[in-house]
This record gives sequence, C-alpha cells and structure tokens, in this order.
Amino acid sequence: MAHPESDVVIRVRDLVVGFGRTTVLNHLDLDVKRGEILGFVGGSGSGKSVLLRTIIGLLPKREGKIEVFGVDLENANAKELQAVERRWGILFQHGALFSSLTVRQNVQFPMREYLDLSERLLEEVAVAKLEMVGLHADVCEKYPSELSGGMTKRVALARALALDPEIVFLDEPTSGLDPISAGESDHLIKTLQRTLGLTVFMVTHDLDSLHTVCDRIAVLAEGKIIAAGPMSVMLASEHPWLKAYFRGEIARISRN
Ligand SMILES: Nc1ncnc2c1ncn2[C@@H]1O[C@H](COP(=O)(O)OP(=O)(O)O)[C@@H](O)[C@H]1O
Ligand SMILES: [Mg+2]
Repeated sequence: MAHPESDVVIRVRDLVVGFGRTTVLNHLDLDVKRGEILGFVGGSGSGKSVLLRTIIGLLPKREGKIEVFGVDLENANAKELQAVERRWGILFQHGALFSSLTVRQNVQFPMREYLDLSERLLEEVAVAKLEMVGLHADVCEKYPSELSGGMTKRVALARALALDPEIVFLDEPTSGLDPISAGESDHLIKTLQRTLGLTVFMVTHDLDSLHTVCDRIAVLAEGKIIAAGPMSVMLASEHPWLKAYFRGEIARISRN
C-alpha cells in the first residue's frame, strides 16, 4: 500500500471484545478503505453489531487497537474524539429513531449535539437531508410510529447524514423491508456513496445488497474475519461457510 494513512479510514487490529466469560471478537483485524462500500456479513449473533458498536466507542474492548482517520481512539483526548465522531454517521439496527421526537427533531438531533446552528439553518439542513434520501419536507412533523418501514429507514439515514459524514455505519439497513423498498435503499446508498464520496460500513444479510452495492465483503465467523474481498472472491471460495452462504440454501435460512 502506497498511502496506508489515506487509503484506510478504519483500521482494526487484534481486537478482543467479550461479555463475562464469552469472547465475541477474538483477535480480529479489519481495514475499511476510503470511498468503498464494505458489506459486513456473518451468522446471527456472530458479533457484527458488537464490532460496529465497539468501533464507534459504545462498547469497551479488552484488547487491540482501533484507528479511525488515523486517530487511535483509545489515546485520543475528548476534543480529538469529538472531531472524529463528527465525521461519521450511524444507522442503528434497532430503534433507529427516537419515538418521542418528530422526524424533524430526529434529523436535527446530531446537529444540535455537535453544531451551533441557528433555528433557521437547522430547519433548512433538515429539509435538505430529507430530500437527499428521497423524502418530502411534509414528513417533518410526523412521528416515527406514523411512518412505514421504508420511510423510517430513510429518516434514519437522513439523520446519519446530518453532519455531512465521511463514513456511515449502517446496521442492516434493508432488514424488515420489502424487496422493492430494499432495492430502493440499495440504490440510494450507492448514489450517496458516489455523489458524496462516502465510505460505507454496512452490516447486512441481504444477498441482493451484497451483489449490487458492495465493493468488498468481509465475513465474520468465530470472532475473526475469515474472508475479505469482492463478491467474485466470495463466490469462488471453497470455504464451507462461504460456499453455504453465497452459493447455498443456507443463504436464505440465515436471513433475518
Ligand atoms: N451488551 C451486551 N451484553 C452482553 N452480551 C452481548 C451484548 N451485546 C451483544 N452481546 C452478545 O454478543 C453476541 C454478538 O451479538 P451481535 O453483535 O448483536 O450479533 P449480530 O452479528 O447478529 O449483530 C451475541 O451472543 C449477543 O448476545
Ligand atoms: Mg446485529
């Protein structure tokens, strides 16, 4: 690699994460490259969400090192940490939105936390972000319970984009969506990556997403990345898990 600092935006080394006696991530290494859409797969309960939450600092690690934009998050001071946090956006797997806040308040939430903007500007930016994900401003006053599954994910994506991030973490963005909404979501993510130059870390079980939007795929099993590469590499692999997942019937069963 000629420019490792600029090419790799997330560098995870020797990461160990566990709960009590359970070890979920066991000396895991992973690189996410600038501008790519990385599809992150693995069986249910294998630790995909745990990895995502550990990278963003919501779960503690036992060992290892996590660097984002070349910053070692463990040794960063509060100011450095906040500067990094402002450069990423997150769409969580569950409870994507705050149910007691309107769509507008949800999208504005990260901006109120990190930026000092006037009410007028907050308003304009919220509408712009909603338009970016294909929603009209008239959804602003709705509450999450009034939205369809597809709209909820879009609003959550708008909120993830609120701070103009360079990296977005998406935890199963198409789960629970019908195939048409899932396809629209894939298209949207690809368009955003192209137009905004985003780096996307996407946990997904959706084989269509993996085929159509991901530049590279990383596979988590037994606490480690057992394979990483483009879909062609996954399809050519003789590894039993990869064969079953990408070419076999288990693919359908393991979706959730
Ligand atoms: N906060 C937590 N406390 C204890 N165990 C947890 C916690 N979060 C996740 N786990 C456990 O870690 C394992 C991996 O979970 P998770 O990362 O959510 O799986 P998935 O790959 O389906 O996203 C599971 O066994 C889960 O029960
Ligand atoms: Mg998960």
